[in-house]
Amino acid sequence: MIKNKKVSSSHYDVKDDLIVPEASDQFVVTSYVKDIIERALVYLNAGYPVHFAGPSGTGKTTLAFHLATQWGRPVTLLQGNEEFVSSDLTGKDVGYRKSSLVDNYIHSVLKTEEQMSRMWVDNRLTTACRNGDMLIYDEFNRSKAETNNILLSVLSEGILNLPGSRGAGEGYLDVHPSFRAIFTSNPEEYAGTHKTQDALMNRMITINVGLSDRETETEILHARSDLGLTESRYIVDVIRELHGNDHETKHGLRAGIAIAKICKIQGFKPRFGDKLFHAICYDVLSMETAKVQHAGHSIIHEMIDSVIRKYCPPVGSDAIKVTTKIKMVEL
Ligand SMILES: Nc1ncnc2c1ncn2[C@@H]1O[C@H](COP(=O)(O)OP(=O)(O)OP(=O)(O)O)[C@@H](O)[C@H]1O
Ligand SMILES: [Mg+2]
Repeated sequence: MIKNKKVSSSHYDVKDDLIVPEASDQFVVTSYVKDIIERALVYLNAGYPVHFAGPSGTGKTTLAFHLATQWGRPVTLLQGNEEFVSSDLTGKDVGYRKSSLVDNYIHSVLKTEEQMSRMWVDNRLTTACRNGDMLIYDEFNRSKAETNNILLSVLSEGILNLPGSRGAGEGYLDVHPSFRAIFTSNPEEYAGTHKTQDALMNRMITINVGLSDRETETEILHARSDLGLTESRYIVDVIRELHGNDHETKHGLRAGIAIAKICKIQGFKPRFGDKLFHAICYDVLSMETAKVQHAGHSIIHEMIDSVIRKYCPPVGSDAIKVTTKIKMVEL
């Protein structure tokens, strides 16, 4: 049992199996983010689960944790998994408890009585429903649809249906009225995800999290890397132009954050003509864009070079500082 263990992220504190969310000062709140969080809080208040759907790296998990900090209840975290079966969510019998009573009070009479009872251990969904926690079910569509079926009655009737093997009267659990859930999912066409059944989707309110606006992206790069705002904006512009309308489906925010962090840690700026900066962009951005070809060879390096030329100042431009001295002339 983990007691009051602090995890490395500043987002949350783990107590036993519970997460106590703390607001992170690296979380960026722009009007785009605020608008999503406010809407989500309205839905939670009305008793509905919230579902953040969108491509990888668009900030769904981060939003889910931030929303949970705003909600203020302890958090139980579940991570979708192909291998999960319902008992991984609810709990299961882990064996038998045998108790025996030996009564030899009158020495000529020996009475023994034996009892076997099943031992049940709650899993996270059951604990959350019992205690009224906030359940974050991250990437829930990585679990099979039949595994997630157990959530149907939880979300609509407020009843958790536990396997019949439990003791009399324990087959159902009334869900605590404070119980709420936040789901996140990646699009169905992503490898390893399952088609989510409509019945489950109907029971939650889906907010599509797509490409954030330029300012939000810039603020996030700045907050996550500590690179200056102007320099972060150069990187954002380069990536947005390179990916065009496909931007969100390609890298989300992670590529930009990686480039900004490397620049900050290595102590250089995004500049046209800086060989290292160009090379880092080739490496970080070429995974998807390598498919762009002309006459049989990849033209991604040429594309990156020309976009860097368009948005970043040339190397050496920082050295030229124009200082204008104004002399006050007494008339
Ligand atoms: N509002 C925000 N403030 C600060 N950082 C953010 C914010 N939104 C996203 N990020 C950062 O962007 C990166 C991607 O976010 P996150 O992991 O939440 O994306 P995701 O949509 O859950 O991705 P995946 O689908 O791959 O799990 C992370 O490094 C995260 O810290
Ligand atoms: Mg995520």
